[in-house]
Amino acid sequence: MDRQAIQERFGIIGTSPLLLRELDRARQIAQTDITVLIEGESGVGKELFAQAIHEMSRRRHKPLVTVNCGAIPEGLIESELFGNEKGAYTGAVERRIGYFEQANGSTIFLDEIGEMPQAAQVRLLRVLETGAFSRVGSSKVIKVDVRVIAATNKDLGREVQAGRFREDLYYRLSTVVLKIPPLRERPEDILPIFEHFLHRFAQKYNTAPKRLSEDARRLLLRYRWPGNIRELRNVAEQAVVLHRGDTLTADDLRSYLRGVTASGVNQGLVPVGRMRSENGVDSRERELIYRALLELRLEIREMKEQLGALTARLGAAIPQANRREEDGDLVIVHKTEPEAYTSLIEDVPYEIEAEPERRPPVTKAEPVKPAEEEPLPTLEDAERRLIAEALRRFEGNRRQTARALGISERTLYRKLKEYEAES
Ligand SMILES: Nc1ncnc2c1ncn2[C@@H]1O[C@H](COP(=O)(O)OP(=O)(O)OP(=O)(O)O)[C@@H](O)[C@H]1O
Ligand SMILES: [Mg+2]
Repeated sequence: MDRQAIQERFGIIGTSPLLLRELDRARQIAQTDITVLIEGESGVGKELFAQAIHEMSRRRHKPLVTVNCGAIPEGLIESELFGNEKGAYTGAVERRIGYFEQANGSTIFLDEIGEMPQAAQVRLLRVLETGAFSRVGSSKVIKVDVRVIAATNKDLGREVQAGRFREDLYYRLSTVVLKIPPLRERPEDILPIFEHFLHRFAQKYNTAPKRLSEDARRLLLRYRWPGNIRELRNVAEQAVVLHRGDTLTADDLRSYLRGVTASGVNQGLVPVGRMRSENGVDSRERELIYRALLELRLEIREMKEQLGALTARLGAAIPQANRREEDGDLVIVHKTEPEAYTSLIEDVPYEIEAEPERRPPVTKAEPVKPAEEEPLPTLEDAERRLIAEALRRFEGNRRQTARALGISERTLYRKLKEYEAES
């Protein structure tokens, strides 16, 4: 496969010499069984490279086994990697096959290798040297044929100096080191990748394609991208989902970029990479956080729109004679019968909760599926049923029904009229 075919097949976008050099090296070593260490900041594409190397190797017919060493509790990592015999430790109720045995004949991707505890480092070194290990709680030697690709966003050399990472293991792992450059060192890749994601997400969410204005391009190039391509992808996704028009300006993008203020780019915020290594948030968690943020933004936007519409209606409903401006604020004076708009105010909760399904679909973060439950009624249906039930209980007495439901008689009356009109 030539370089271009590889880029297309694995979705590795970019033309910067720094990236292409690493890609060429990856291609050269893919067919061998050499151990590879992939270094790079958070979100630069280390996992993407690991997958590409595996898929280009003769081992591609078996699945790549990915292990996030930073996400496994320290006390469990050895048994996760190498397996354990029944009763090897408290809680080891049965024999467990470790990831290394699962990866026999294939490739194991040890992500966040810098987080690996020392004891596991010793065993790993032994596997790398002899291809052999034993399960925790057993002395029987197991031989496997596994290719190791490791990745880290720490400076492993420094970890060695600080005594946190074994020097012998470091040398064994770093036969071939791929250094994936951060986005800020390959600015020529920013716009092509951004536009690629704009296109991809427009297809995914079934929206019209969007283009970037000149100032938007300049902003994207000036931004430092602390979260690298993962961040860029999230920004593009938000822009596709949240922005209505077909052109994105710098102002539109600003709200999605971390550490960007109205006046420009500031670098005061902690880069994601550092956040992670300090508090152990792994990339899947971060993905979820991003998604939750995205949904939150959607909700806030929707609420704003509904409030806007409501305020406009309220404004229109207040008679001119009852309005007065004070320092630019609208003051409502209760000169005449306030009833004219109390019903509108009472309706506020309904207005906000009215249209349940206007949000564009946000997929991926899969909702927990309750087993075999009745489908939920729509809010409107539930409301209708509740009112009917309350009326039945109070034998048709509207005053008591309204009081029990916490709404005004007028609202109840209006709702009944609506139901009547619909049926
Ligand atoms: N050159 C590229 N072109 C297009 N997409 C890319 C490129 N590099 C990375 N990506 C995408 O960016 C996202 C992050 O990449 P990846 O998970 O490989 O990063 P990482 O270096 O492993 O990050 P972390 O250190 O946080 O685990 C993925 O969705 C990946 O597909
Ligand atoms: Mg990764």
